[in-house]
Amino acid sequence: MRTELVLVAVATGAHAQQLYVSTTGYTERAQCTQPPSTPSYRFEAFSFTQNETVRHAIPVPSPTTTHTYAPGYEEAYSILGTSLSTTTWGNLLPNATSISATDTDDTYGQAAWSSLWVEADLANYTSVGLYTTTVDPTPVPSSELVLPPRDYFGPTDCYTFPEDFLFGVAASAAQIEGAIALEGRGPTLMEKLIRDDRPKNYITNENYYLYKQDLQRLAAMGVKYYSFSIPWSRILPFTVPGSPVNEEAIKHYDDLINYTLELGMVPVVTMIHFDSPLYFLKDSNISATPDIGYNNGGYWHPEFVESFVNYGKILFTHFADRVPVWTTFNEPLLYAFNFTGIDNVVKAHAELYHYYHDVLNGTGKVGFKLNDNFGVPKNPENQTDVDAANRFNEMQLGGFGNPLCLGEQYPQSLLDTLPGAQPLSGEQLAYVSNTTDFFGIDPYTATVISVPAEGIESCAQQNLSTNPLYPYCVTQETTNIYGWNMGYRSESYVYITPTYLRSYLSYLWNTWRKPVLIGEFGFPIHDESLRDLPDQLFDSPRSQYYLSYLSETLTAIWEDGVHVLGAFAWSFMDNWEFGDYASQFGIQVVNRTTQERFYKKSFFDMVDFVGARGGLGHNH
Ligand SMILES: *[C@@H]1O[C@H](CO)[C@@H](O)[C@H](O)[C@H]1NC(C)=O
Ligand SMILES: *[C@@H]1O[C@H](CO)[C@@H](O)[C@H](O)[C@H]1NC(C)=O
Ligand SMILES: *[C@@H]1O[C@H](CO)[C@@H](O)[C@H](O)[C@H]1NC(C)=O
Ligand SMILES: *[C@@H]1O[C@H](CO)[C@@H](O)[C@H](O)[C@H]1NC(C)=O
Ligand SMILES: *[C@@H]1O[C@H](CO)[C@@H](O)[C@H](O)[C@H]1NC(C)=O
Ligand SMILES: *[C@@H]1O[C@H](CO)[C@@H](O)[C@H](O)[C@H]1NC(C)=O
Ligand SMILES: *[C@@H]1O[C@H](CO)[C@@H](O)[C@H](O)[C@H]1NC(C)=O
Ligand SMILES: *[C@@H]1O[C@H](CO)[C@@H](O)[C@H](O)[C@H]1NC(C)=O
Ligand SMILES: *[C@@H]1O[C@H](CO)[C@@H](O)[C@H](O)[C@H]1NC(C)=O
Ligand SMILES: *[C@@H]1O[C@H](CO)[C@@H](O)[C@H](O)[C@H]1NC(C)=O
Ligand SMILES: *[C@@H]1O[C@H](CO)[C@@H](O)[C@H](O)[C@H]1NC(C)=O
Repeated sequence: MRTELVLVAVATGAHAQQLYVSTTGYTERAQCTQPPSTPSYRFEAFSFTQNETVRHAIPVPSPTTTHTYAPGYEEAYSILGTSLSTTTWGNLLPNATSISATDTDDTYGQAAWSSLWVEADLANYTSVGLYTTTVDPTPVPSSELVLPPRDYFGPTDCYTFPEDFLFGVAASAAQIEGAIALEGRGPTLMEKLIRDDRPKNYITNENYYLYKQDLQRLAAMGVKYYSFSIPWSRILPFTVPGSPVNEEAIKHYDDLINYTLELGMVPVVTMIHFDSPLYFLKDSNISATPDIGYNNGGYWHPEFVESFVNYGKILFTHFADRVPVWTTFNEPLLYAFNFTGIDNVVKAHAELYHYYHDVLNGTGKVGFKLNDNFGVPKNPENQTDVDAANRFNEMQLGGFGNPLCLGEQYPQSLLDTLPGAQPLSGEQLAYVSNTTDFFGIDPYTATVISVPAEGIESCAQQNLSTNPLYPYCVTQETTNIYGWNMGYRSESYVYITPTYLRSYLSYLWNTWRKPVLIGEFGFPIHDESLRDLPDQLFDSPRSQYYLSYLSETLTAIWEDGVHVLGAFAWSFMDNWEFGDYASQFGIQVVNRTTQERFYKKSFFDMVDFVGARGGLGHNH
């Protein structure tokens, strides 16, 4: 998740809903067949007999079978065909300013590792938090698992989730792990991204040491899929091919994956979630204005493709036997920086897909997940607005979707707008074509699109320094043609827009023709962090967001014929949102002093919604 405003997109003639249908009269109540009758007033003896149902969350059942999706480590290592050295580097503790290691002639030694951190020159690295070793989990007390009172109004649908639907929760490493310089991790862009004057904090949720407890809490609620990211800089602190693998990191994620499975859940791994190794940015301006996206993630670097593929193969070698779903890149456009970044992501992804399916013969799924808050035309009957919305969506999604799903060229809008953009050759297109098992999307909200007064063409010849609308060059609004907000507004840019989600799923499926995976969706309630704990926990607007989005997902599946592969709620707890902790997307509250977690109402409501519709993959 990210906290800035991005918008965009529209349907292709599939079952898009009409945006504005004029009507008169009040809302019809088709379900009411009884004619109104006269009330009959009477006295009765009063007593407190109103029944309250007390229910408990249903934990994930213990696993009964073991699935294997690719060769185990020994065989995968021999297939990899390169020797991997492993080592450990230990910790760089807060306030350290000098290097005591003496192995200065070892390129990848202790002194070199410490130098990475000294060069990273962290501001305010003064504490590691409460924990420096893995905390033993304790069972969640049953008193924490009593369902909260329901919201009065709720879904009335009769659909169920298909058997292969993946329901789960998600988070990313930089936002929850902490332990940034412990157990051999190398520095990443995340430690350098300091927005405004907000004080930096590297502790986040200490999930690196609290993962067992966090997993217990998910399993106790009945969650089936756990989607997390692995930081490249933990596995390979020196980033590049031929550099040693961090033994402690491999052990850590081995154990995390095993523990997830032991609890009856299924791991889903993202290979990079904004946390680029600082290696790619050491000679570069981190704050440079991008041609596209938000940040300079270093994906344009000449060594990026080869290095990422090497890293991805190492992850497959160690974990592909037990992990059935892989996401190579999270929202790559936002950190692509320029056309070279996009082009490199496409090439690196395709190479890893081929390796997984053609060399390892992996039977799981490999895909990517993209950002784009669905752009809908301000006036759907005005072709100019429709074209603008299509441009907005296509520029964010088509750079990846066209080649990787369809074997089609980059969108003309990207080629015409981004400096230095080059089409893929026929040979390149053939290689990257059809190299994804799903189309991942983080469809938080929608945005209303029209053409700016200056037009698209002149803007597209400029840059972000001269024109804030560049590169999409469309007007984005949050109100519809009548001036109403699109939906209930959150802390930031997220408006509750469930019916646009249905259109969006249809657009994605019919345009790129791959099963759609909702990789993240979630809602930060306005000023939630300022409320008392019991009020934070009773988060009805978030329940409304989740239940309405899931309801429209079912409608898309059953009425529009859209293959939706699954949905992962963001985030499984409040976390660091790239600057602070105020935008609370979580379905659990975290006490920043004690690191205690508390379930929010929306978590119970969502699991109940999915479970009641057969979406948890187990019977109860
Ligand atoms: C409460 O539950 C009891 C037992 O199921 C039932 O007989 C009674 O009618 C319920 N009362 C109300 C007010 O629903
Ligand atoms: C690091 O320095 C800060 C500021 O002097 C201090 O508050 C903090 O306790 C130190 N941290 C450690 C782990 O020594
Ligand atoms: C470092 O901490 C101080 C004191 O809390 C704060 O004023 C300053 O903004 C912080 N600097 C950064 C870069 O986080
Ligand atoms: C995790 O499970 C795998 C496969 O069962 C096993 O080979 C490995 O040793 C386990 N790792 C840890 C850290 O327990
Ligand atoms: C980095 O880029 C920003 C934004 O373009 C610019 O203001 C700044 O001067 C640049 N810094 C350096 C060191 O070039
Ligand atoms: C993968 O399948 C190919 C073609 O069937 C076969 O040649 C190769 O040995 C298999 N590789 C593994 C690791 O099983
Ligand atoms: C469509 O919208 C554009 C831009 O707002 C406007 O100039 C044009 O007249 C509209 N076309 C129609 C047919 O309404
Ligand atoms: C992208 O940015 C990098 C770093 O500034 C630069 O080397 C590369 O040429 C740029 N690519 C394009 C297409 O402009
Ligand atoms: C894409 O790849 C899948 C999986 O290998 C295959 O089933 C499908 O037929 C391919 N589609 C096209 C259009 O080549
Ligand atoms: C943006 O465009 C202006 C005006 O054409 C030009 O002076 C400037 O160098 C451009 N900036 C970048 C980063 O290309
Ligand atoms: C965190 O927990 C501590 C200890 O229970 C408590 O004093 C504090 O008020 C809590 N913080 C918040 C923001 O609730």
